[in-house]
Amino acid sequence: MATLFQLVYISTAREDLAPDACQSIVEEARGRNAGLQITGLLLFNGKRFLQALEGEEADVRNVYRLIEADPRHHGLVIIGETPLEKREFSQWSMAFAQGRTDDLPGKVDAFLGDAGTSTRDLFMTSAKLYRGASTGLEL
Ligand SMILES: Cc1cc2nc3c(=O)[nH]c(=O)nc-3n(C[C@H](O)[C@H](O)[C@H](O)COP(=O)(O)O)c2cc1C
Repeated sequence: MATLFQLVYISTAREDLAPDACQSIVEEARGRNAGLQITGLLLFNGKRFLQALEGEEADVRNVYRLIEADPRHHGLVIIGETPLEKREFSQWSMAFAQGRTDDLPGKVDAFLGDAGTSTRDLFMTSAKLYRGASTGLEL
């Protein structure tokens, strides 16, 4: 029987990533994910990506291998690998939240309806670490 599985990782965006690069990433992601019934959430906080991928375990691992080789980011670290009873992001082939101002936590919150406490905490923490020009935070 196919196992429903979720993988979560963080990575660092390439320094010179064009501002509109995320749009292409999300379009590519949605195209492939829809065909494989992979769902999830991608957050970009200005410097780091945080992504949850969920679906059949072999499919999730295959897509992760492609993502890992993508030169638009580096330093990937898997921070969660868990079997799931039900999807946390069932409605999105890849939901996407990116901050421009300090509204990122609100945007992320809108996608977390079905997510458990640990997933919610993880995404909200990352959203709050938005690297705005005014914060001076080095994440
Ligand atoms: C942060 C990030 C997240 C990505 N997420 C996905 C994803 O969820 N699904 C997917 O198919 N591709 C995703 N991609 C894009 C793939 O890495 C890319 O399509 C893959 O390298 C294959 O490229 P190709 O279509 O040119 O062969 C992501 C890329 C980045 C940088």
